[in-house]
Amino acid sequence: FQPKSLLDIGAGPGTMLWATVDVWPELEQAVLVEASASVRKIGQSLAVGAIAARADWVAGDATIDLDGLGPADLVSAAYVLDEIAPASLPKLVGGLWRLTADTLLVVEPGTPAGWQRILAVRSQLIEAGAHVSAPCPHEAPCPLVPPDWCHFSRRVARSRLHRLAKDADVPWEDEKFIYLAASRQPAPVRAARVIAPPKTGSGKAALKLCQPDGSAGERLLSKRDGEVFKSARRADWGDTLA
Ligand SMILES: C[S@@+](CC[C@H](N)C(=O)[O-])C[C@H]1O[C@@H](n2cnc3c(N)ncnc32)[C@H](O)[C@@H]1O
Repeated sequence: FQPKSLLDIGAGPGTMLWATVDVWPELEQAVLVEASASVRKIGQSLAVGAIAARADWVAGDATIDLDGLGPADLVSAAYVLDEIAPASLPKLVGGLWRLTADTLLVVEPGTPAGWQRILAVRSQLIEAGAHVSAPCPHEAPCPLVPPDWCHFSRRVARSRLHRLAKDADVPWEDEKFIYLAASRQPAPVRAARVIAPPKTGSGKAALKLCQPDGSAGERLLSKRDGEVFKSARRADWGDTLA
């Protein structure tokens, strides 16, 4: 997957644009839809001269203004669905999928409510013929049952300004998130996903895995498992286990 074009809705200050060029520097073109004029202005000023891809910032409400937009290899919506009225989500998700030439990525806060929104998006997209690329290694119903929920975590460094803005002392925070990547193409390989922080000890690793057969549960691996054990010891929360 080598996207040349990005369509990001609820772009904020361009977070997804920066993340995309970080992974795919060859990105050629980005269209960023953002309702807030002040946030758009910040995003534009941060990106100008710093991002090689051509970036067009579009004013408008993504729930009603998608019609004039063209398809993109990567279509994304990060931390946006929770700002949109639940009744408007199916139409928005349908519109985003129609504009997806290859992959649609939706990211939400890693809360039980964020997970429920992702599950609804997942069902709608599977119904529309999409293939789930990640995090689930299958298209079966999610095997997790509340109060459990699927989410991941990334430690983010806090700058001095960030600490001041949040009145926080610690120089980092653990950002919990949940996401869904849905593709026009079936995934070439499906590998189990680590869905909780691994517990490793001497000669042992316990991993909570979501499996390609649609099940989820803890798997205890030891040196006797050979190469799989070596991979398991290196695997982190969110990784796949080959
Ligand atoms: C929490 S921010 C996320 C920004 C960015 N995607 C990120 O992950 O950092 C949500 C953004 O979505 C924008 N937004 C909310 N509803 C929108 C809508 N219906 N159409 C376009 N933008 C919207 C807000 O103005 C805000 O900038």
